[in-house]
Parts: sequence; C-alpha cells; structure tokens
Amino acid sequence: MVLSLAGFLVLLNSVSAFSQEKSSAKKSPPVSALYSAEPEPLTPVQCGQCHNSLYNNLKNDGGRHQFECQKCHKNFHAYSPVKNNWNELMPKCRDCHLLPHGEKITECSACHNNPHAATKIPMSAKLISSCAACHSGPFEQLQKFPSKHTKLTCDSCHNVHAYVPSCSACHKPHYEGQEFKGCASECHPVHQPLQIKFAKDANAKTCNACHDKVYVKWSKSPSKHGKVNCVSCHTKHGSIPECGMCHVGPHSKQLHERFPKCLTCHQDPHDPPVKQSSK
Ligand code: HEC
Ligand code: HEC
Ligand code: HEC
Ligand code: HEC
Ligand code: HEC
Ligand code: HEC
Ligand code: HEC
Ligand code: HEC
Ligand code: HEC
Ligand code: HEC
Ligand code: HEC
Repeated sequence: MVLSLAGFLVLLNSVSAFSQEKSSAKKSPPVSALYSAEPEPLTPVQCGQCHNSLYNNLKNDGGRHQFECQKCHKNFHAYSPVKNNWNELMPKCRDCHLLPHGEKITECSACHNNPHAATKIPMSAKLISSCAACHSGPFEQLQKFPSKHTKLTCDSCHNVHAYVPSCSACHKPHYEGQEFKGCASECHPVHQPLQIKFAKDANAKTCNACHDKVYVKWSKSPSKHGKVNCVSCHTKHGSIPECGMCHVGPHSKQLHERFPKCLTCHQDPHDPPVKQSSK
C-alpha cells in the first residue's frame, strides 16, 4: 500500500479521533505520534551528518575534546551577517582553560589552529618562534656549547612537533651496521654534539673509524688489555688514563721509584708484551 503524506495524516487523525472517543476522560487536544516525544539534543554523530569534516577532525584527532559539540557551542545556528556576530558565537578557549603555558602565551589559535583537531599542532611561525619558551633546556645547550647544530633551526630537525629525527636523516654511521639509536645516548648529546660523553659500553668499532691503527693492534693483542674496552681506559674523548686507576702498586716500591713510568717496561698499553704462559 502506498500512502501520500496527506492520506497518512488523515489516517493518523482518524486513528487518534477513534482513540479519543474510547478514552473520553482525556480532554487535551490530539497529539500526532510524530510529536509525542520531547526532542533530544543532537548527538555529535547527528551534527556530523551535516558537519562531516569537523566530526571527522574530532573523531580522528580530537583527543580530550571528544565530548558533545554543545559543551563548546552553547549557541549555534544563530549567525547573522547583519548582526555580524560570528566572533561572539564562537566558543572561547578561556571558557574552559586558564593560561596553561603561562602568562606570556595567550594567542591560543596561533598554534592550536583547529579546536576540533586538538591533538594536532601544525608547524607555524608562532610555534617555531616559541620553542625555547617551553623547552629552555635544549635551547640553552645549543647556545652554551656552540656546534654546527647551533646554526640549524629547531624545526630543521623537529619538522613536526614532538617528532624526533634519527641521526641517519642527515649523517652516515661511523661503521657499517652501526645502530643510530646509540649516537646521542652513547656519545653525542644532540643539542651539544661536541660535548662528547662515552657510555660505559660504547662499541670499540666506533673508535676504529678514526683510530684504526690502535684499534687493529688492540683487537689482535693476546694480552688481557685486549679485553678491556677502549672507553674503560679513555673515559672521556682524548683523555689518557693513569695506570693507577686500575693497578695499585703492582711491584715493589723500589722498582716503581727506580722506573716511575710503567710503559718503560710494558711498552704499549694497547698491546703490552705478555709472558707466553700467561696467554
Ligand atoms: C572544544 C570545543 C569545541 C568542540 C567540542 C566543538 N567545537 Fe566547533 N568550534 C569551536 C571553536 C573554538 C570554533 C571557532 C573556530 C575558529 O574561530 O576558527 C568552532 C567552530 C565551529 C564551526 C564553524 C567554523 C567552521 O570551521 O565551519 C562549526 C560548523 C563547528 N564548530 C561545528 C562543530 C561540531 C559539529 C562539533 C561537534 C561534532 C563541534 N563543533 C565541536 C570549538 C569546539
Ligand atoms: C541539517 C544539517 C545540520 C545539522 C544537523 C547541524 N548543522 Fe550546524 N550548520 C548547518 C549549516 C547549513 C550551517 C551554515 C553553513 C556553514 O557554516 O556550514 C551551519 C552552521 C553551523 C555553525 C556556524 C554558524 C552558526 O550560526 O553557529 C555552527 C557552530 C554549527 N553549525 C554547529 C552545529 C552543531 C554543534 C550541530 C549539532 C548540535 C549542528 N551544527 C548540526 C547545518 C547543520
Ligand atoms: C567547553 C570547554 C572547552 C573549551 C571551550 C575548550 N576546551 Fe580545550 N579542553 C577541554 C577539556 C575538558 C580538556 C581535557 C582537559 C584535561 O583532561 O585536563 C581539554 C583539552 C585540551 C587540549 C589537550 C588535548 C589533548 O587531548 O591532548 C588542548 C590542546 C586544548 N584543550 C586546547 C583548547 C583550545 C586551543 C581551545 C580554544 C580554541 C579550547 N581548548 C577550548 C575543554 C574545553
Ligand atoms: C606557541 C604555540 C602555542 C600557543 C600560543 C598555545 N599553545 Fe597550547 N600547546 C602548544 C604545544 C606545542 C602543546 C604541547 C602538545 C603536546 O603535548 O604534544 C600545547 C598543549 C596544550 C594543552 C594540553 C596540555 C596538557 O596538559 O596536556 C592545552 C590544554 C593547551 N595547549 C591550551 C592552550 C591554550 C588555552 C592556549 C591559549 C591561552 C594555548 N594553548 C596557546 C602550543 C601552544
Ligand atoms: C640536529 C638536529 C636537532 C636540532 C637542531 C634540535 N634538535 Fe631537539 N632533538 C633532536 C634529537 C635527535 C632528539 C632526540 C635525542 C635523544 O634521543 O637523546 C631531540 C630531542 C629533543 C627534545 C626532547 C628531549 C629533551 O632533550 O628534552 C626536545 C624538547 C627538543 N629536542 C627540542 C629542541 C629545540 C627547542 C630545539 C631548538 C632550540 C632543538 N630541539 C634543536 C635533534 C635536534
Ligand atoms: C607551548 C609550549 C610548547 C611549545 C611552544 C613547543 N613545545 Fe614541544 N612540547 C611541549 C609539551 C607540553 C610536550 C610534551 C612533553 C612531554 O611529553 O615531555 C612537547 C614535546 C616535544 C618533543 C618531544 C619530547 C619527547 O620527549 O619525546 C619535542 C622534540 C618538542 N616538543 C620540540 C619542540 C620544538 C622543536 C618546538 C618549536 C618548533 C616546540 N617543541 C614548541 C610544549 C611545547
Ligand atoms: C636535520 C639534519 C641533522 C640531523 C637529524 C642531525 N644532524 Fe648532526 N649535523 C647536521 C649538519 C648540517 C651538521 C654540519 C655539517 C656536517 O658536519 O655534516 C651536523 C654536524 C654534526 C656534528 C659535528 C658538529 C660540529 O660542530 O662539528 C656532530 C657530532 C653531529 N652532527 C652529530 C649528530 C647526531 C649524533 C645526530 C643524531 C642524534 C645528528 N647529528 C642529527 C645535521 C643534522
Ligand atoms: C670521528 C673520528 C673519531 C672517532 C670516532 C674517535 N676519535 Fe678519538 N680522536 C679524533 C681526533 C680528530 C682526535 C684528535 C687527534 C689529535 O689531536 O691528534 C682524537 C683524539 C683521541 C685521543 C687522544 C690522542 C692523543 O694523542 O692525545 C684519544 C685517546 C682518543 N681520541 C680515543 C678515542 C676513543 C677511545 C674513541 C672511541 C670510543 C675515539 N677516540 C673515537 C677522532 C675520533
Ligand atoms: C681501566 C683499567 C685499566 C687501566 C687504566 C690499566 N689497566 Fe692494565 N689491566 C687491566 C685489567 C682489567 C687487566 C687484567 C687483569 C686480570 O685479569 O687480572 C689488566 C692487566 C694488565 C697487565 C697484564 C697483562 C696480561 O695480559 O697479562 C699489565 C702488564 C697491565 N695491565 C699493565 C698496565 C699498565 C702499564 C697500565 C698503564 C699504562 C695499565 N695496565 C692500565 C685494566 C687496566
Ligand atoms: C688499558 C687501558 C687502555 C685501553 C684498553 C685503550 N687505551 Fe688507548 N691509550 C692508553 C694509554 C695509557 C695511552 C697513552 C700511551 C702513551 O702515553 O704512550 C693511550 C693512547 C691512545 C691514543 C693516542 C696515542 C696513539 O697511540 O695513537 C689513542 C688514539 C688511543 N689510545 C685510542 C684507543 C682506542 C681506540 C682503544 C680501543 C681500541 C684504546 N685506546 C684502548 C690506554 C688504553
Ligand atoms: C722495570 C720494568 C717494569 C716496570 C717499570 C713496571 N713493570 Fe709491571 N711488570 C713487569 C714485568 C717484567 C712483569 C711480569 C712479571 C711476572 O709475570 O711475574 C710485570 C707485570 C705487571 C702486571 C701483571 C701482574 C700479574 O699478576 O699478572 C701488571 C698489572 C703490571 N706489571 C703493572 C705495572 C704498572 C701499573 C706499572 C707502573 C706503575 C708497572 N707495571 C711498572 C715489569 C715492569
């Protein structure tokens, strides 16, 4: 059966007239079933039927802004060019937020350009000029210890906020197969790359890239020093260790007084001569 809208309404009317006759106690005017319920506020999905892209922004990148649209839009569908009330209608960050980044950072939308995608903070001139305001540590290290990295802008490495590049984006490794994840933690703190620190287990192959003669001699040495890692002795780059760091008075007092330099007899710290039997 096909009913026109008018036919449908007539039918509804007669049904309600019929039911009214039966329960004659009810005096209130007839209510169409279509209007019997109280309207519910639109859900985000329903707003999203028309505002599809904003709905998807919230869905994908809304983060902690994923609540009802109306919590922010207390007043909407009220824009009038005549009243020129757009700004007045739009929600304000300060309705809910104080100044989370301190007194100096106020222009919220200069960085948070889309409140519906709250977790996305695109690179912008404002953001780039503000890195140091929030990350004073890296900024100060770069300034205090000048290196070629000091000449780079923060965003030449961090080209997306909070993205951390691998050194391999710009550098070759010291030796084939070297893992990049150790570069910063084992030797070069990236914001002060010339303040070289050696981790206790820094791989000797790294040293080989520049000190191959020493490395080859050391790695072939039958002595027990051949098992001592370079950085156990050279705890800082360029430093020369005292034998006394590890060996306290190995010989008689007289011998040490007579020959104060251990290497007079032991010759080469990287390959000290050893007794055949001790091999
Ligand atoms: C956290 C608060 C917040 C929530 C939640 C929110 N909005 Fe908004 N919305 C804003 C702000 C702030 C603006 C003004 C943006 C501007 O000035 O660029 C805005 C602007 C708009 C605009 C007009 C500007 C445009 O880009 O078309 C529409 C339409 C809109 N929102 C729809 C929605 C819908 C639909 C939802 C829910 C699915 C929603 N909003 C949820 C804060 C919010
Ligand atoms: C039936 C489609 C439809 C639905 C559903 C809808 N909107 Fe809109 N909305 C529009 C149209 C059309 C405009 C005007 C054109 C534009 O800005 O995209 C508009 C404009 C807006 C604006 C900006 C102008 C103003 O006067 O406020 C906001 C904010 C907004 N809608 C929020 C919402 C929210 C929140 C919901 C859900 C509670 C919602 N809309 C549901 C169609 C709809
Ligand atoms: C109706 C209240 C309301 C309005 C208006 C509002 N916010 Fe929020 N916002 C919240 C709440 C609630 C949270 C979650 C806070 C929490 O968990 O501590 C939040 C969280 C955020 C977050 C963190 C998002 C995440 O998941 O990492 C950002 C960024 C943010 N808001 C920016 C803004 C900006 C910018 C504006 C103005 C354009 C704004 N908010 C307007 C209520 C609001
Ligand atoms: C110079 C750029 C910039 C400005 C201006 C700015 N923010 Fe942010 N905001 C950020 C960055 C970057 C984050 C960190 C995002 C992250 O955690 O990865 C952030 C994080 C937040 C968070 C989440 C904090 C949390 O504890 O998770 C909120 C809320 C927020 N901003 C609100 C605001 C409000 C409100 C304003 C205006 C008063 C504002 N922001 C101005 C860049 C900015
Ligand atoms: C040469 C590339 C490069 C430059 C330039 C650079 N960074 Fe970094 N940054 C990195 C790398 C790589 C890491 C990860 C370091 C790690 O894993 O130890 C990092 C880590 C960070 C971290 C998180 C760890 C920490 O130390 O707090 C912040 C924040 C940071 N950088 C901010 C900045 C700021 C701000 C600037 C500009 C003043 C800057 N960076 C300049 C490469 C760079
Ligand atoms: C408004 C403050 C603010 C501004 C401006 C800001 N950041 Fe952040 N940044 C944050 C917050 C908050 C986090 C999250 C902190 C965390 O997880 O330790 C963060 C995280 C980071 C991280 C990841 C840290 C990690 O440990 O993984 C890097 C890298 C970073 N920011 C670099 C930058 C650079 C580069 C700039 C400038 C282009 C910048 N930030 C601007 C607040 C800011
Ligand atoms: C975005 C590119 C980029 C990234 C990522 C990067 N660097 Fe650099 N780095 C450079 C440039 C450019 C120079 C200067 C030219 C050169 O020496 O190759 C440089 C120079 C250096 C220098 C020599 C500094 C000087 O002043 O002589 C060291 C050491 C260094 N980088 C280590 C690292 C380490 C370790 C990482 C990873 C944690 C890293 N770099 C990540 C671009 C980068
Ligand atoms: C990228 C090249 C390079 C790497 C890798 C390297 N060095 Fe060096 N090293 C140098 C340079 C250049 C000098 C300065 C040479 C000079 O002044 O004659 C030096 C100096 C030294 C000196 C002092 C030499 C002296 O004559 O006083 C020691 C000790 C040293 N390095 C140990 C190491 C150790 C141990 C490693 C591995 C953990 C290492 N180096 C990794 C380049 C490197
Ligand atoms: C970082 C610690 C350290 C330093 C510094 C050090 N050594 Fe050693 N040396 C060792 C260790 C560990 C052994 C092996 C000891 C064992 O197995 O009993 C060793 C063994 C030796 C041996 C015996 C070699 C063998 O194979 O039988 C001689 C000789 C020696 N060291 C001389 C020196 C001299 C000379 C110096 C200074 C130029 C020096 N050491 C500096 C750690 C060190
Ligand atoms: C047991 C301690 C010890 C170990 C292990 C050790 N060195 Fe040395 N190294 C020394 C001492 C002591 C000197 C100073 C020698 C001198 O005064 O003639 C030195 C000198 C050097 C020098 C400068 C003089 C030269 O011969 O070129 C370099 C470069 C060097 N070491 C690199 C390394 C490397 C690379 C490794 C690992 C492959 C390594 N060392 C392992 C103790 C050690
Ligand atoms: C006059 C030469 C001479 C001088 C100087 C000398 N040694 Fe020795 N050292 C020897 C001889 C020879 C042996 C091997 C002795 C043996 O096997 O009984 C030896 C053995 C060692 C051993 C290995 C002991 C063991 O039990 O295996 C160490 C460690 C050592 N010397 C460290 C040093 C240190 C450190 C100095 C400087 C403070 C030094 N020596 C100065 C001649 C010397």
